[in-house]
Amino acid sequence: MATILIHHDAVSAASATAKRLLDLLVSKPDASLGLATGGTMEQVYAQLIERARGMNLSFAGVKSFNLDEYIGLNADHPQSYRTTMSKLLFDHIDIKPENTHLPRGDASDPAEEAKRYEAMIAELGGIDLQLLGIGLNGHIGFNEPSSSLGSRTRIKKLARSTMAANRRFFKPDETVPTHALTMGIATIMQARKIILLATGASKADAVAKALEGPVSTSCPASILQFHPDATVIVDEDAASKLELRDFYESIHPGGEEVYFVK
Ligand code: F6R
Repeated sequence: MATILIHHDAVSAASATAKRLLDLLVSKPDASLGLATGGTMEQVYAQLIERARGMNLSFAGVKSFNLDEYIGLNADHPQSYRTTMSKLLFDHIDIKPENTHLPRGDASDPAEEAKRYEAMIAELGGIDLQLLGIGLNGHIGFNEPSSSLGSRTRIKKLARSTMAANRRFFKPDETVPTHALTMGIATIMQARKIILLATGASKADAVAKALEGPVSTSCPASILQFHPDATVIVDEDAASKLELRDFYESIHPGGEEVYFVK
């Protein structure tokens, strides 16, 4: 079972997530970070930038690998995940552009691009810490329900609910992409450490299914139950449907990690 940390609100949950990323970078300045996009991460990156500045922390040795990218959008498209990451994080820290990796959404052969991306992650030594959000339907990356739990980076069709949720990032006259290149579930599970962050009442069902339901392709995030070092950070709203909520809160009051001392 993952470590489940329930924070009072979304700001505190995002701040705890940013702190964990910084702790890793302090102990390993050349760490490989697996990054995610989506609304939930915006607060994490804002906090990361601010705190890293305060600590004078350099990202010059850091490598990053994003989970996914829309197919059909070139890197410069305002809604590409490459542009989003530049705006939210890369442009504000001293990470070397050549060390920031995302699948190329405009590759002429997306299937080949998926293979290249998967191989590159392995060649560069894998991922130390993978950051995840969760979809309303339990997806991680763009591994929608029914995705193979053994999957690798590949092309995925987005679920209707995912396209509807992502509509808000696009202008009314723009079409929301229908397909993405995404790390697979097995790719994600190979990360040495995983942090999943979920905030808001809309995520409560997905969080409960992922943490307390059966491990199943119908909720891809449920695979994290098998990960040896996964932490799930939620706010009270996202935790509201957890049956064992009291128990998790008794182990980690206020979302703090408390260790057993004799
Ligand atoms: C994005 C990604 C997705 C999001 C998820 C939650 O790179 O991989 O799995 O993390 O869709 O998105 P938000 O945070 O917008 O609710």
